[in-house]
Amino acid sequence: MPNTLETLHGRRSIRQFTTHEPSRADIEALLDAAVTAPNHRLTQPWRFYVLGPQARHAYGLALGNRKAKKIEDPTAADSMRNKVAEEHASLPLMIAVAMIEDANPEIREEDLAATMMAVQNISLAAVSLGLGTHLKTGAIMQDPAARAALGVADGERIVAVLNVGEPATQPPAKERKSAASLTKWLP
Ligand SMILES: Cc1cc2nc3c(=O)[nH]c(=O)nc-3n(C[C@H](O)[C@H](O)[C@H](O)COP(=O)(O)O)c2cc1C
Repeated sequence: MPNTLETLHGRRSIRQFTTHEPSRADIEALLDAAVTAPNHRLTQPWRFYVLGPQARHAYGLALGNRKAKKIEDPTAADSMRNKVAEEHASLPLMIAVAMIEDANPEIREEDLAATMMAVQNISLAAVSLGLGTHLKTGAIMQDPAARAALGVADGERIVAVLNVGEPATQPPAKERKSAASLTKWLP
């Protein structure tokens, strides 16, 4: 198993997966890692949705419908709708991470930060288990059809949707500015 720094440096957004389906034990290990994230006031705002093929298809259909609306030709729009739905259904696994929205804006902001840390924990735990993830966000997360596909309760906000599976390849690291170039050392 890689150590923490190797795991951090080895993480990539994975766009191509093998057909291997993560086991229930692996999925539980990812979620157990998620709930260890730092969390001010221990509000434990995160909620997890593990999507089987039917839910993935329904979520993909919601996304496909959004894309199809931008296409004039009805046949092309229909094939876009079905393509996106099928692509999602055939993913090895999706996990959606939502959070309870507190009425207090300060707590809500902290809870969003904590939930994103939980998402990162899932991504890093996945690397440790020989899996990979691709984090997705966007307007789809507020779409009533997408929310219905997941069965997200009122008062919950979808924060991220993760595609999860065994990487088909390890993409090269994306070039980034060095930390040194972005850091001020204060006396
Ligand atoms: C908050 C957040 C939202 C993201 N949303 C998307 C997305 O909607 N679609 C997508 O293709 N990638 C998304 N990504 C993944 C980034 O594109 C990816 O992390 C970036 O290209 C760097 O690549 P790496 O993760 O392999 O280092 C998101 C990442 C973050 C942190």
